[in-house]
Amino acid sequence: MNDKLMWVQNKQFQLPGNIKQVVPLLENFTLDQVSCVERFHRTYGQFEETPLRRLDALARYVGVNQILVKDESFRFGLNAFKVLGGVYALGQYVAKALGKNIDDLSFEELKLPGVKKHLGELTFISTTDGNHGRGVAWAARELGFKARIYMPAGSAEERLQNIINEGAYAEITSMNYDDTVRYTSKLASENGWVIVQDTMWEGYEEIPLWIMQGYTTLVKEVVDHLEEAPTHVFLQAGVGSFASAIVAFLKQYYEKDITFVLVEPHVANCYYESFNQGTSEFVTVGGAMQTIMAGLACGEPSPIAWDILKGYTRVSISCAEEVAATAMRVLGNPLGQDAKIIAGESGAAPFGCFYELMTDFRYAELKETLQLDKMSRVLFVNTEGDTDIKNYRDIVWHGKYAK
Ligand SMILES: Cc1ncc(COP(=O)(O)O)c(C=O)c1O
Repeated sequence: MNDKLMWVQNKQFQLPGNIKQVVPLLENFTLDQVSCVERFHRTYGQFEETPLRRLDALARYVGVNQILVKDESFRFGLNAFKVLGGVYALGQYVAKALGKNIDDLSFEELKLPGVKKHLGELTFISTTDGNHGRGVAWAARELGFKARIYMPAGSAEERLQNIINEGAYAEITSMNYDDTVRYTSKLASENGWVIVQDTMWEGYEEIPLWIMQGYTTLVKEVVDHLEEAPTHVFLQAGVGSFASAIVAFLKQYYEKDITFVLVEPHVANCYYESFNQGTSEFVTVGGAMQTIMAGLACGEPSPIAWDILKGYTRVSISCAEEVAATAMRVLGNPLGQDAKIIAGESGAAPFGCFYELMTDFRYAELKETLQLDKMSRVLFVNTEGDTDIKNYRDIVWHGKYAK
C-alpha cells in the first residue's frame, strides 16, 4: 500500500436489482423529508448556516470549471458536521418518548424543564473517533441529559478532552472502532442506556437512520445556493452513513447524473475492498486502523449505507496519509482571492485525492475514467476543521507527512 492512490470502478453501479432494493430507502431522503430536518435544526437558537466556498483560482490551476467546498468546520461552533446527526437523533428520540412528532417541535421546546420531568434521567452512550461523540455529548448536555462516550485506542487526547468539556463521561478504550461499538452496545443493554450510534446493525436501525437524516441539512444548504448541479461529488467514508445520506438526497434532487467518488484511508478501506471484490456483498477490514484520518478509521460499512453507495458510487479511492496532509496544506494556503479553509485530516482527504489525480500524470487514467475536465463542477465537504490542533500544526506548519 505504498501508492498515494488506489482506485477501483464499482461493478455494481446502477445494476437494476440493486436500485430496486434501494428505492424504498431513498424515501427517507426526499426534499420534503430533508426540509423537515433542516427546519428542526434551524429552531436551535444559535443556528447558523456554514459557508459554501468557491475556489476559483484553484479551479483554474487544476483545470476544472468549479471547485466548491462546504465548510463544516463552522458547524455549531463544534468544528465538524457530525453534531447535525446527533442533535436530530436525540431530538427524534425525545419527541417519540413524549409521544409527539418532531415536525411539531423546536429544539428550544425540548429543553424545557417539563420534558426532563416527564422522561426522567436519560443516559445516551456512543462510540466515536471524536466528532460524533462530541456532537452527542453536546446535544445531551443542551437537553439536560447525560452522555457516556467511548473512543478507540489511539484516539487523540485533545478530542477526548473536548468531549469531557461538553460534560460527558468519556474514555479511550484499548479496542479498535468496530470492537468499541460492540462494547458500548453491550454496556447500553446492561445498564438501560440509549445507544446513539452512527452505524446500523440488525435490529438497530431507527437511530442510525435519524443520524443520517440529520446530516442532510448540510447538503440542503448547498443546493439552496447552486444554480447548476455539481458534475462530481467526492465524499469521505468511515462507515458510509454520511456519504450515503448525501448521495441519496442529491440523486433525487437533481435529475442529472452526478459522478460520486468515495474516499477512504488505506488502513480502513472497507468500501474500496468491497468494490474490488465486485459482488453485491460488502467485506470488512480489521486491525488497529491507525490513521491521521481518524473519522474514517472504520472497517465495517453500515449495511444501509452500503446498499445506497453500492448502487450509485462510480469509483472508490483508497489513499495514503500524505494525500490528506497535502490537501490540508493546499486548502490552508489559498491561491489568489480564494478563501482559506482550515481542513482537518478526514475533512481534507477527498480534496486530496482530487488534487493528486488532477496534478500527477500517474493518475491520468483515473482522471479520464471520471471525465474530469474544464467543464467539471466538483463538490467537496470539509467535514471537520482542526479537531486535533497539535496534528494540524505538525502537518501544516511543520511539514509532517510531506513527500
Ligand atoms: C470528520 C469526519 N468526516 C467524515 C466521517 C465519516 O462519516 P461516516 O462514518 O458516516 O462515513 C466522520 C466520521 O466520524 C468524521 O468524523
